[in-house]
Amino acid sequence: MRRSLVMGNWKMNGRRDQVQALFTALEDQLASFSAVEMVVCPPYPFLALVHDRQRETSGIGLGAQNVSMYSDGAYTGEVSGEMLRDMGCEFAIIGHSERRLLFSETNEVVAKKFIRARDAGLVPVLCVGESAADRDANRTEEVIAAQVLAVFQDGGREVFRQAVVAYEPVWAIGTGRAASPAEAQKVHAFIRKTVAARDPEAAATLRILYGGSVKAQNARELFAQDDIDGGLIGGAALNAVEFAGICRAACGAN
Ligand code: 13P
Repeated sequence: MRRSLVMGNWKMNGRRDQVQALFTALEDQLASFSAVEMVVCPPYPFLALVHDRQRETSGIGLGAQNVSMYSDGAYTGEVSGEMLRDMGCEFAIIGHSERRLLFSETNEVVAKKFIRARDAGLVPVLCVGESAADRDANRTEEVIAAQVLAVFQDGGREVFRQAVVAYEPVWAIGTGRAASPAEAQKVHAFIRKTVAARDPEAAATLRILYGGSVKAQNARELFAQDDIDGGLIGGAALNAVEFAGICRAACGAN
């Protein structure tokens, strides 16, 4: 049994007052809702602010959107996994397609970040997914296998224990065009099979999230698929009512 997980990736959005208002609204919307694990990933400058506002009873955890591939030291502008742990983060998104595409993060860099995050005590959330061109060329499985195998290669057979994977087809991110539930399920099953071939134990408990134009309205059907264990939400995570609707859709879905 895998507990559903819904994560909000706020990306590079918000100002202090907006972040405060959003998080307060989320805590109000989701007070006493504990059926699903929920996490928000604010921009770095707002992590402390959100952490300070987490209520004693808060069911909403904290994650980072990125992590350095280095531990503390002379790396100007970087933020280490240890710092993120110290700020109250439990999770770190690794290898989001925006970082792969806009900041040239290769599979090798992503693998290093994954292992650094894990070694710092964070749960790495490995983002994988194919571009529209890969999909049109029937290369989806090939691309995703390479993204997953790079992490095994660096981290060894048990690297996916205490980790999360997020399948985010690049063509579905921010486009309003989510993968169909059947289409997403097929890729999720492939990801689980790829992990199972090396570590069946990790594969059975590994949570695989879907991300890409998830809304409250399409979430239930996506989350009802056997291998979809929740979602990584972008735009809709900036609206408390919408995000709460997505969290409720995950309730009892698995
Ligand atoms: P959207 O939900 O805005 O499509 O973004 C998905 C995403 O990139 C989450 O990491």
